[in-house]
Formats: sequence, C-alpha cells, structure tokens
Amino acid sequence: MRIPLPMDAAPELVIDTANDDERMWMPLSENVAIRPLMLNVVQGSWVNLIRAKAGGIVSRHRHPAPVIGHTLEGAWGYLEHDWVATKGTFIFEPAGETHTLVVDPTVGHMTTLFHNMGPLLYVDENGKQIGYEDVFTRIEKFRAYYGSNGLGEGFVESLIR
Ligand SMILES: [Fe+2]
Repeated sequence: MRIPLPMDAAPELVIDTANDDERMWMPLSENVAIRPLMLNVVQGSWVNLIRAKAGGIVSRHRHPAPVIGHTLEGAWGYLEHDWVATKGTFIFEPAGETHTLVVDPTVGHMTTLFHNMGPLLYVDENGKQIGYEDVFTRIEKFRAYYGSNGLGEGFVESLIR
C-alpha cells in the first residue's frame, strides 16, 4: 500500500533525460550547454546536466557551498587540479573551492550531472569577485531562453521546488 505524502510535501520530480527535447539545453557559450533538473529556491541549490564540446570552458569561479558531480560521458577536469574525470567519476568539491572547468582536449566532449549547493562566484586571477550565478539568476535565464525558443516558461517552472 502506498503511504501518501504529507499534504505539505513538495511534489516529486521524475525526469527521463534520454528523451530530452534539444530545446531543453540552454547554451552558456559556443561549446557549453546546460539542462536544469531541479531548482531549489528554498535552499538556493540546483541540479543540472552540463554538456561541453572540445574547447568548452566554464571560467574561473569559487563555490561558497559544496558541489557534487557525476560524470556521465566524456572527460573533463579543472585547470587547478591534476585529475581527469571520466565516465563514472564522482566528485565532491568542498566549500571554498575555486576552479576553471575544461573539457579534456584528447576526448573532446563531456556530459556531467552537478548538484550545486549554492552559488558560483566568478572571480579574476586574484580571486576578486567579478560576477555570480545563483539559483535565481539561473531561473531568470532559463525562463527567458525557454520563453523564446518555443518550449515555454512553464518548463523551467515545473522544475522549481
Ligand atoms: Fe564549479
């Protein structure tokens, strides 16, 4: 027998990304795109897939909250670390980590699931903050993108909890 959810519980999310509509992937740059899975506006966290091609880069940023990642395809790393993440690699980045994400040029692509537990603070080479991204700026950008590409703003709203 199914025990019902408490009446105040948020609805679950069950997403089959194998059947994704390409319009769900929002370009961040020429070689990098993201697909939101869950946007948590109470905790300020979010889960997304990121897909990048050769030359793909996410510029230097600091995480004031932890990040969890799991590599689904390809290979990538951070300029600030020696390791290379390949299919199956799990990572935990503690709060305080600053890094620059790059696709491994020998493999030339990657897809990774990230759970960002807080914002990204974009920083210059001295660590000085020059910008930021949080769950709210992400939602604003997704809303504008899906509103303009025909998928509709309701898509991103369905992922907010
Ligand atoms: Fe990061």
